[in-house]
Amino acid sequence: MHFEDVIKGRRSIRRYRDKDIPRSLVGEILDLAKHTPSSGNLQNWKVIVVKDSEMRQQLAQASMEQYWMVEAPIHLVICNDYDKVKDHYPVLGKMYSIQNCAAFAYNITLSAHTFGLGSCWIGAFDNEKVQRLLSIPDNIDPEIIITLGYSEDSKSPQLRDEVKYITYQEKWGAKFKVPKSELEQIESGIKKEVSKFKKKLKTIKKRK
Ligand SMILES: Cc1cc2nc3c(=O)[nH]c(=O)nc-3n(C[C@H](O)[C@H](O)[C@H](O)COP(=O)(O)O)c2cc1C
Repeated sequence: MHFEDVIKGRRSIRRYRDKDIPRSLVGEILDLAKHTPSSGNLQNWKVIVVKDSEMRQQLAQASMEQYWMVEAPIHLVICNDYDKVKDHYPVLGKMYSIQNCAAFAYNITLSAHTFGLGSCWIGAFDNEKVQRLLSIPDNIDPEIIITLGYSEDSKSPQLRDEVKYITYQEKWGAKFKVPKSELEQIESGIKKEVSKFKKKLKTIKKRK
């Protein structure tokens, strides 16, 4: 799959087909996503693969009752092993540990898409409930849940703000001008020529 298609084609999927995912496929998805960069290459992530339907029901309930999650045959619970990071980075470690897990989670969603699966990032859940449900030790934080399954939806790329609205040049607030694409340059060239032609036509008509 072309990289652009991976990025643009990944969407948050909230409707899934009733079809099992082979464990080997989950392994392949994680094997690709593990190449995510992390601060000091500390890789402070752990993943709990949840297949049990009763547990998925309870995770959905702990996720502000997002019961559509149950349809997804697998929930991946991304956990943050902060202890791995804090000694290396006493000041910034907490932030790094979360950023590392977030980068890993995003790559899982991209990897899943590459392997033909849909996914959705779940951030709205009760950490303590999830911790209790999955016997996660106190020093480990469940950071993100990712639902995984064969998509029942076909979604086109989501609208995003244009680059010129999210980018500044050199300092905050200074406009970043995106050079026009070749097609846009041709279009504006044609428009200029047409308006010149119209002006000429007007003056000729006036003379008559
Ligand atoms: C930090 C974070 C938390 C999110 N939490 C939820 C969530 O709890 N439930 C949900 O349905 N989607 C959640 N999403 C998915 C976003 O709603 C989704 O990415 C966004 O609307 C853009 O749509 P797209 O992923 O299809 O491009 C979350 C995404 C992120 C990055």
